[in-house]
Amino acid sequence: MFTFFAPLAALAYFILYIVHIEAVQHLNETKWPSQNFTSVPEFHPPVLEITAPEQASKDGYLFFNPGGPAADQVAPLIMDSDGELVWNGPPGLFTFNFGVQQYRGEDVLVFWNGTRFPEPKGRGHGNVYIWNKHYEQIANISLPGNFLEFNGERYPSNIDLHEHYITGNGTILVLAYNITMADLRSVGGLAEGWVVEGQVYEIDIETNEVLFTWNSLEHLDKLPFTDSLYPLGSEGYDGKTQENAWGYFHHNAVTPFTDGYIISSRYFCSAIAISREGEVLWVLQGRDGGDFQLEGNASFCYQHDIRVLSSSLDANNSLASLTISMHDNANSPIDKNKIPTSGKIFDIDLASKTATQTHRYLNTSGLIYGTAQGSHQRMTNGNIFEGAGYVPVMEEFSPDGTPLCRWTFGTPIRTTEGGFLSPEPENVVLSYRAYKQTWVGCPRTTPDVVLTKMQA
Ligand SMILES: *[C@@H]1O[C@H](CO)[C@@H](O)[C@H](O)[C@H]1NC(C)=O
Ligand SMILES: *[C@@H]1O[C@H](CO)[C@@H](O)[C@H](O)[C@H]1NC(C)=O
Ligand SMILES: *[C@@H]1O[C@H](CO)[C@@H](O)[C@H](O)[C@H]1NC(C)=O
Ligand SMILES: *[C@@H]1O[C@H](CO)[C@@H](O)[C@H](O)[C@H]1NC(C)=O
Ligand SMILES: *[C@@H]1O[C@H](CO)[C@@H](O)[C@H](O)[C@H]1NC(C)=O
Ligand SMILES: *[C@@H]1O[C@H](CO)[C@@H](O)[C@H](O)[C@H]1NC(C)=O
Ligand SMILES: *[C@@H]1O[C@H](CO)[C@@H](O)[C@H](O)[C@H]1NC(C)=O
Ligand SMILES: *[C@@H]1O[C@H](CO)[C@@H](O)[C@H](O)[C@H]1NC(C)=O
Ligand SMILES: *[C@@H]1O[C@H](CO)[C@@H](O)[C@H](O)[C@H]1NC(C)=O
Repeated sequence: MFTFFAPLAALAYFILYIVHIEAVQHLNETKWPSQNFTSVPEFHPPVLEITAPEQASKDGYLFFNPGGPAADQVAPLIMDSDGELVWNGPPGLFTFNFGVQQYRGEDVLVFWNGTRFPEPKGRGHGNVYIWNKHYEQIANISLPGNFLEFNGERYPSNIDLHEHYITGNGTILVLAYNITMADLRSVGGLAEGWVVEGQVYEIDIETNEVLFTWNSLEHLDKLPFTDSLYPLGSEGYDGKTQENAWGYFHHNAVTPFTDGYIISSRYFCSAIAISREGEVLWVLQGRDGGDFQLEGNASFCYQHDIRVLSSSLDANNSLASLTISMHDNANSPIDKNKIPTSGKIFDIDLASKTATQTHRYLNTSGLIYGTAQGSHQRMTNGNIFEGAGYVPVMEEFSPDGTPLCRWTFGTPIRTTEGGFLSPEPENVVLSYRAYKQTWVGCPRTTPDVVLTKMQA
């Protein structure tokens, strides 16, 4: 029974208001300030610290999924820009990538659940769930198969926690990780070493049939081990045993584009374009350019959430240029606190082979150094919404880059300059990605209501 406080009718709104008053009286400041509800005692969503709610756009709700060892309540959440709870998912459900997507022409809720291996492994084996506007499950997508993990365990479904992208064709793009053996002598390792392979799948949602498969180890000619910016041995991953398999590639997003798919590889610091046949077409590397010349101050590394915003064709109907966006962490566990994290937009010109950085989104008074996770969203109203992932902060910007509002949950590490650092893994409260999206829920459950006598 998932209770829903829908601000649909005036009566419902009045009840919500009463519940809110109850909540404010019951703040729990010991771990993270949380809201209690008399009507639903098992919900403890965070009280958000909000810098400038009046500057936040009125469009959309916040979709995020607090989790991590220091989270008071692990559950997917929908809140409005003022931090009022709209919907609290099942407490204890540590979802990834909770947000609204479109499937068969309708807005649906999408999230991942499964077995997680937190940072520094940072991967998982699970299923993708799609819920309709009635908060009813309409799909449970799986990837069974012969996958190996560091611990020798097998999982019924092996969809990784990073990416769940529904295409306009009724398919979903997902990632998977498999541990296997490879010759690591080119990077000073064993001839029979252990690596974590990056895989990409396109799955038909209706039938669960796999339509496309891509494996990183089949493309070592274009994507060699020597290109990894996470050297063999980093954080103890020396590739000498199955348990210490080297996560050299660590892909975290895949998105369709005119000629196939674009993969985001965190440790190649690259946007990798592959054809529908899986051939590597080009690589945009954020530090040396890869197949491109980086113009001016263009740079990125350890990025997340690469998306294609637009593309244009030449006279022969070939792709001429495209514009991509990303959350540029610029920080990793082995390279941090030098360059702040920001949202970025790049124009890629395929004829001149150049990449130009056109926009950067960050609050220069409150710099964030995010060593892992995060998201970048262009909202339907054109504003930009950044989720800081490993740092429990979400920000909205105007299209030109003006910071509008910041929402903080949990207890992030603050710098004396007004910014944020990433915590040690045991102190993390995170939301892998976060979105600000429009959504109309029509729950079939009756509201849980407690009427309290109030002083006049
Ligand atoms: C808030 O909820 C917690 C967990 O159920 C409970 O222990 C606590 O007493 C509640 N706080 C208040 C002030 O009611
Ligand atoms: C506050 O949260 C802490 C940590 O989760 C918990 O131990 C404590 O019982 C909570 N107190 C209240 C009053 O809710
Ligand atoms: C979420 O995944 C975990 C781990 O696989 C599983 O134990 C749990 O039952 C799942 N929860 C739901 C609601 O599917
Ligand atoms: C989803 O499918 C998996 C099999 O891949 C099954 O184990 C699990 O129970 C299903 N979960 C729900 C909530 O339907
Ligand atoms: C749908 O599939 C067709 C044929 O493979 C492809 O050309 C088109 O780009 C796909 N559309 C999306 C939105 O993925
Ligand atoms: C995973 O790797 C193992 C070898 O370690 C191999 O036997 C298996 O087929 C691979 N699975 C997939 C799905 O690639
Ligand atoms: C279009 O194709 C023709 C013939 O292959 C070629 O000569 C021309 O340069 C192409 N134009 C563009 C813009 O690539
Ligand atoms: C650096 O990037 C920003 C956008 O991120 C751009 O506005 C600015 O002109 C660039 N500066 C140079 C010197 O290229
Ligand atoms: C930018 O960061 C500063 C320092 O933390 C903060 O005071 C300010 O409110 C932030 N701006 C916005 C719009 O959130």
